[in-house]
Amino acid sequence: MRRELVVVCMLVTSVAFAAGAASQSDEGDTPFVWPIPAWMAPPPVPEDNPMTSAKVELGRRLFYDSRLSRDGTVACASCHEQARAFTDGRALAVGINETVGIRNVPSVANVGYYPQLTWGNPHMTSLEFQALIPMFGDNPDEMGSNGREAEIFARLAADPWYAEAFPAAFPERPKVDLFTVTRALGAFQRTLISLDSPYDRFKYWGEEDALSDAAKRGEQLFFDHRFECYHCHVGVLFTDNLQTTRSALSETGSHNTGLYNIGGAGHYPAQATGFYEFTGHPSDMGRFRTPSLRNVGVTGPYFHDGSAETLEEVLAHYARGGREIAEGPHAGDGAQNPHKDGMIVGFKASEQEIAELIAFLESLTDEGFLTNPAYADPWPAGHPASVERVMP
Ligand code: HEC
Ligand code: HEC
Repeated sequence: MRRELVVVCMLVTSVAFAAGAASQSDEGDTPFVWPIPAWMAPPPVPEDNPMTSAKVELGRRLFYDSRLSRDGTVACASCHEQARAFTDGRALAVGINETVGIRNVPSVANVGYYPQLTWGNPHMTSLEFQALIPMFGDNPDEMGSNGREAEIFARLAADPWYAEAFPAAFPERPKVDLFTVTRALGAFQRTLISLDSPYDRFKYWGEEDALSDAAKRGEQLFFDHRFECYHCHVGVLFTDNLQTTRSALSETGSHNTGLYNIGGAGHYPAQATGFYEFTGHPSDMGRFRTPSLRNVGVTGPYFHDGSAETLEEVLAHYARGGREIAEGPHAGDGAQNPHKDGMIVGFKASEQEIAELIAFLESLTDEGFLTNPAYADPWPAGHPASVERVMP
């Protein structure tokens, strides 16, 4: 079968989003074309932020613009680096003035398909709203622009490229402000679609030799009852979090996988209690959103706090049915956490089987996504927008 990228027009006929599509013509511009294969529906688009090519391009410029941060040192792309599937290679995020945060940077690949965003906040459901947190949040400081909104927007408005790009993207409301900046960022991020790994070529396009024999055996193990991986890392994105323009309902999955059990009391580290932080329900302690496994070969370190360096470490945790921490402030046996999900029971596996599972996980890396020029830094070298600070 030919791997033709079948073009699905933005004018989706979905009932839920028909209004968004209709208002698109008001914004001028050529209609946006989703870069997705025929077997996948586009992600939902909010009614008040229809996709246009001009808006997506503006969003890309903003994503790579370090002038969104207080001192011009940190862009979204400083932490969300394309070559690492938009993660940063660190255990914990590092923001302005080297401020170390409390969470590992998640990939933003396929982020338009997630009904809930971030590792542990069930209320964070909008890309437009989420963009405010790195820019203007101060817990922790990421881009440090809280209280400096007017200054940041004036700085952008003075740029000759933006002077044309904002009116092109928002003809009826061209001002550089929260409304336009967050919508453009949301539109760009919805285009970050990664569905062309060797595994996809094998599974959806029938290319038998796209996968090694080890990865094919790893696939069998991943979907086997002994390992249970697929119960939570399910479906096209390998997560039980999914919404598309064809979904009747959004799937939202989160679990306590037994990483901690502080003092034997079922607790997680105070700054990373997961959904419990927002709901206060004891059963939500240590519950985090199931991450997608797409591109997982390049997104380490792993888990909400980056506490596993490698995929081997991740699998050792699952094999034991929870992680034991012998000493220090987080000491406790995660396998005994009373809130742990019933699917995390541990398993026996040979070294060869572990290697095969990892070969399968690594077959989910979409090299074309990591190098796609449409997602790359658009600013010329040396431009004041440039992102200088990335991991070596
Ligand atoms: C200092 C590093 C840093 C910067 C800069 C940063 N982010 Fe993030 N981003 C993170 C971390 C850490 C998380 C996870 C937060 C959490 O789970 O609470 C995250 C989460 C996200 C998510 C949710 C992803 C998901 O899978 O649910 C999106 C979307 C996102 N960031 C977009 C942006 C945008 C847009 C910008 C620029 C305006 C930006 N980020 C700047 C570190 C950063
Ligand atoms: C009960 C649901 C569940 C099962 C079963 C499960 N996982 Fe997970 N997985 C999760 C959740 C939730 C996280 C995030 C945990 C955290 O950070 O606190 C996760 C995290 C991961 C990560 C880290 C991803 C990242 O971006 O940091 C990998 C890799 C992974 N799982 C692979 C597997 C494999 C392989 C199996 C089978 C052996 C498996 N999982 C079984 C729910 C599950």
